[in-house]
Amino acid sequence: MDTQGRPLGVLRLSLTALCNLACPYCCPDALEPPGLLTLSQRVQLVEAFVALGGHTLRLTGGEPLLYPDLEALIRELQRLKHASSSARLREIALTTNGVLLSEQRAIQLREAGLDRITFSLDGTTAEAVARMAGLKGGDAAGQIVLNKVVAAIEHARHAGFDPDRGQIKLNAVMTRSGNADQLLGLASLARQRGVELRLIEFMDVGNRNGWSPEGVLTADEMVKTIDHHWPLDPLDRHPHGTTLRWRYRDGHGLLSVIASITSPFCGDCNRLRVTADGKAYTCLFATPESGIDLKPLFDASLGSGALRDGLLALWSRRQDRYSEERMEHRSDHSVEQSAEPRAEMAYLGG
Ligand code: GTP
Ligand code: 5AD
Ligand code: SF4
Repeated sequence: MDTQGRPLGVLRLSLTALCNLACPYCCPDALEPPGLLTLSQRVQLVEAFVALGGHTLRLTGGEPLLYPDLEALIRELQRLKHASSSARLREIALTTNGVLLSEQRAIQLREAGLDRITFSLDGTTAEAVARMAGLKGGDAAGQIVLNKVVAAIEHARHAGFDPDRGQIKLNAVMTRSGNADQLLGLASLARQRGVELRLIEFMDVGNRNGWSPEGVLTADEMVKTIDHHWPLDPLDRHPHGTTLRWRYRDGHGLLSVIASITSPFCGDCNRLRVTADGKAYTCLFATPESGIDLKPLFDASLGSGALRDGLLALWSRRQDRYSEERMEHRSDHSVEQSAEPRAEMAYLGG
C-alpha cells in the first residue's frame, strides 16, 4: 500500500519513447532516451512487480509496435501468468495507435499471449485524423492512417481478440478545437464494430502540448451529445479503473469517458509507470527529476531482491494525487495548469 492506502496493481511499461505519429496533444520526442532497458531487464522488472502483488501489465510507448522484441517480451512473461502462488500476472494489455498492426503482427501478438489491445483514433474523417495525428501529408495521409487503424481493429478481431470480452477498445482524445465534431462519427464507428469507445479529456500532461482549460471538451458535454443520439444508461465504475462507463440502451455495447480533468480518479489509482530507459514514476503528472532510476537495481551483485525492495520502497512512500489536488485548490472547481515542469506523455507512456 502507498501512503494513501492504495495497492500496487498495474504496471504501465513504456517500451520506446518514439512514435510513428506526431499527435499535437502528446508531442513525442524525435530521439530515444539513452540507456534503454534490455529485454531481460524488462522481464526482471515485471517479475518484481508481480512479486509485489501487481496483476496487470500495460505495454505502452511512444508506439510500442516499434519495439522489435515486443512478441519476445510477451512470450517470456507468460510463465508469470501460470504461477501457482497468489502472486500471478493476470493480463498483458497493449495501448497502440494501430498503424503498424498488420494481420500477421496481430496473430503473432495473440500467439505470444497478449490479452487485450486498445487502439487510439481521434476521428473518422481524413481531415480530422490528419490534424489530430499531426500528419504532414494532409487529407491523403489522414485517410491512409484511418484505413490502417480500422483494418487493424479487424486484424485484431480475426487474430482472436474478442471485443465482447473487452479485448479490443478504442481510445479517442477529444479537444474542443481539434475534433469535437468527430464525436458522433467515432461513436458510430465503435458501435458498428462492437468495440468500447473511450473518450478522453485532453490532459495537461507534459509542457509542450499547449494545454489550456478552454481546450478541454468535458466528459459531461461528450456524454450528453452521444446520449442525445443514442440514449445511455450509467454503469458502476470499476474499482481502480480510469473510466466512467455507460451502456447503450439499444444494446450496442459500451461507452466510457476518462475524465481526469473534471472528475479525477486518484483516490484508488494503482498504477506504476516505468519509462523505456528504466525510470519509475508514480504519477502521470510527475516532475521529470522525480523519476527513480531503476537501472542500478539490476546489478546482479545486489541479488534478485534489490529491484523488488526498491519498487516496494518507492510505492510505500507514494503520495501522488495530482489531479485531485488541482481540483481542490480551485474553489470554483474550474481547472488550470500547474507551473511545475512535467515529464512528457510519450516518454511516460500515458
Ligand atoms: P484499461 O485497462 O482498459 O482500463 O486501460 P487504461 O485506461 O488504464 O489505459 P489506456 O492506456 O487505454 O489509457 C487511457 C487514458 O487514460 C490515457 O489518456 C492515459 O494517459 C490515461 N490514464 C491512464 N492511467 C491514468 C492515471 O493514472 N491518471 C490519469 N490522469 N490518466 C491516466
Ligand atoms: N491527454 C489525454 N490523453 C492523451 N494521450 C496522449 N496524450 C494525451 C493527453 N494530453 C492518450 C493517447 C493514448 C493514451 C496512451 O494516452 O491518445 O490513447
Ligand atoms: Fe494516478 Fe497521478 Fe493520475 Fe491521480 S493524477 S490518477 S495519482 S497518475
